Amino acid sequence: MNNLQKNKIQEELDSLSKKEQKSLKKVTFDQELVDNNIILSVRHLKKYFTLGKGRNKVKLKAVHDVSFDIKKGEVFGIVGESGCGKSTTGRTLIRLHAPTSGSVYFNGYRIAAGNRWNQKEIKWTNVRGKNKIKELKEQCDAEIAQFVKKTTPDQTTINQIKNKYKIQIDNIKLHIKETERVQKEKIKQHNYDNKHVDKHLLTKMQMIFQDPIDSLDPRMTVYDIIAEGLKIQNFAKIQRDKVTRKYHKLIQEETDSNKKEELKVKCEEEIKNLPSYKDMVASILNKVGLIPDYANRYPHEFSGGQRQRIGIARALIMQPDLIIADEPISGLDVSIRAQIINLLNDLRKEFGLTIIFIAHDLSVVKYFSDRIAVMYYGNLVELASADELFKHPLHPYTKALLSAIPKPDPLFEKTRQRIHYDPSQHDYSTDKPSFQEVSPKHFVLCNSKEFDAYKKEIIEEDKKAKENKKVTRKTSTKKTVKKTTRKTTSRKNQTKKTA
Ligand SMILES: Nc1ncnc2c1ncn2[C@@H]1O[C@H](COP(=O)(O)OP(=O)(O)O)[C@@H](O)[C@H]1O
Ligand SMILES: [Mg+2]
Repeated sequence: MNNLQKNKIQEELDSLSKKEQKSLKKVTFDQELVDNNIILSVRHLKKYFTLGKGRNKVKLKAVHDVSFDIKKGEVFGIVGESGCGKSTTGRTLIRLHAPTSGSVYFNGYRIAAGNRWNQKEIKWTNVRGKNKIKELKEQCDAEIAQFVKKTTPDQTTINQIKNKYKIQIDNIKLHIKETERVQKEKIKQHNYDNKHVDKHLLTKMQMIFQDPIDSLDPRMTVYDIIAEGLKIQNFAKIQRDKVTRKYHKLIQEETDSNKKEELKVKCEEEIKNLPSYKDMVASILNKVGLIPDYANRYPHEFSGGQRQRIGIARALIMQPDLIIADEPISGLDVSIRAQIINLLNDLRKEFGLTIIFIAHDLSVVKYFSDRIAVMYYGNLVELASADELFKHPLHPYTKALLSAIPKPDPLFEKTRQRIHYDPSQHDYSTDKPSFQEVSPKHFVLCNSKEFDAYKKEIIEEDKKAKENKKVTRKTSTKKTVKKTTRKTTSRKNQTKKTA
């Protein structure tokens, strides 16, 4: 970790009250994530919804084992068809849903965790252990019975057999107890982390919602909507406290009483000059391309694109590090979509934002994202850099998504064939799939057989691309040769004529 990062963390810690600092110290913190510049780490995230009651109760696995890391400043696209769990993932990251299982780390701190896996681990080690103990007891009885059948019973050897099995059974019992202890401790820590998450840290993660109409309260003015977060967080007090703490330190270190007085005056002045909520709202409206006068109007007075800008302003005013944009342009006219994308791009550069961009078609995220994750039925099926994904799409679902992208070329469109993804094409009856790195930083959900096939596919695709390049180069050089010969002959003719 460089000194700048250390200072920033220390500054943020200073801005917290002492009580908060104490509880924060006990919250799980992963230094490695901070060292590697990873702002958000999602580990085996699951979100299940239970629907119905009693007999009719069903479990809906909206998100099923999703893991990824996001680096600072990156734009991470999540793509998949409607209902595959994209919004649920986003909402769980921002703690609008409690995760069923798995963990979310933000700026190194664990901000959300679920216990289902740990509870299952206790349950299944118990069940498996008890079954094994039963089996061992039966084996022991059978061995003793066989021994008694063969020879006259000898108590010492019977005891020896019993002892042999007893040691194994005791080991299993110990293993059950130990797993129970370890998992219960983990569950306790999860609950502690969930309860003591730093609220100031959470404001550094903001969401832009899909529907610009429904996500804005029609009875609130634009000013109230945008400033609501600041008021809830008591942002003005936080800012004042920050300044007083900074000067308090300086005043304590200073020995000259005159200079101490000077510092006090400076501190008061700085507090006076802190921007009011009104100023902050006006400047953020400017940033998103709206007039500050709009602050007194109501959401229904605006167009879809303007409403989405208000949504963006509401997120930005909290000075976030990470923005989760959940299909921010799906509800907008095509002509306005590009405007919003450009705005997000500009803001990203200006504020150094990290963005999770959720969309249901690949063409939207193609130019905007650094890395893209493809999601299908609650699972990530492929994850790679945007270029790599378009160059070597491997999972059949990714190929199906790519085949759905129209091109502004009527000849191509006439022959374009859509690929339909059929999940039954995978044979996972014996060999179960896992998320594997097929080529550097390119992950695909596949079993070992598919893994080999995908590797081959990449090599063959590269070969084809090389050959195509050679052919195009040859034809282009031929064309240029022809052109140059034509030019020289025409010049010769001209010189002849002039002569
Ligand atoms: N609060 C909820 N209660 C029950 N089911 C939900 C809830 N939210 C989402 N779901 C279900 O979870 C699945 C994933 O939904 P969602 O994450 O909204 O998909 P996406 O954003 O990819 O279109 C859907 O089947 C949806 O019906
Ligand atoms: Mg959605």
